[in-house]
Amino acid sequence: MIVIMLGPPGVGKGTQAKLLSEARGYRHVATGDLLRAARREGTELGRKAQAFMDRGELVPDEIIIGMVEEVLGAVDPEGGVILDGFPRTVPQAEALADSLDRLGLSVDRVLLLTAPDEVLVKRVAGRRSCPVCGKVYNVHFNAPAEDGRCDACGSELVHRADDDPETVRNRLGVYRRQTEPLVDFYRNGAGAAVVEVDGNRSVDTVQSALFEAVDGRGAGT
Ligand code: AP5
Repeated sequence: MIVIMLGPPGVGKGTQAKLLSEARGYRHVATGDLLRAARREGTELGRKAQAFMDRGELVPDEIIIGMVEEVLGAVDPEGGVILDGFPRTVPQAEALADSLDRLGLSVDRVLLLTAPDEVLVKRVAGRRSCPVCGKVYNVHFNAPAEDGRCDACGSELVHRADDDPETVRNRLGVYRRQTEPLVDFYRNGAGAAVVEVDGNRSVDTVQSALFEAVDGRGAGT
């Protein structure tokens, strides 16, 4: 099962992808997390990505495609993969299709999460992330037991640099211009079922809808 999580910043792709991958044993590949790890480690990839990420722009396709091909080459796709934050442009989607084709695979589901912009801005403003174990919290909806500390590993939580309101507005514009066209790309003949799920509900309700979609019981187009 190859699943793509699609949707604007803050809609819950990471939260839901983690739950799905834990429940089903799929490998969770999150390009944003990979890039942030590369930045923390100070690698060449991290240095190249930094300025784009801080402005809320997409990292160039050739950098991202190379990174994802390397990751996909090291996983067993037969065990299931959930792609979170990739592809984000039509050239990335075409490159993914070519890579999977070489393995005799294709995208099975595109899970499109939606929510109004004001909800997204509030969620992103309230997000706090653990830089060590990756657990994600929200000061409004899902606060840690101790303010500013990760429940899972005790590390100090951070507010992502690209989560300030101005950069979030830019990221939303980038999503509309560069990533939303993927919905038609997949709907118009790329062979994967696109299932739209209202992400403006509780985490549990969204999770149930996504499980139904993965199991082929959601309304796909
Ligand atoms: P990335 O890290 O992928 O960011 P994003 O797509 O903008 O998505 P977010 O991580 O902001 O949100 P999310 O949808 O995962 O929401 P989350 O679950 O955290 O990318 C960052 C940057 O990296 C990009 O801007 C770009 O520069 C670069 N990049 C990455 N991939 C790239 C690519 N393929 N090509 C080029 N560049 C790339 O939830 C948000 C908050 O809401 C959390 O606090 C959470 O607790 C809360 N929440 C979640 N669900 C609910 C709910 N149902 N109810 C209430 N609160 C909720």
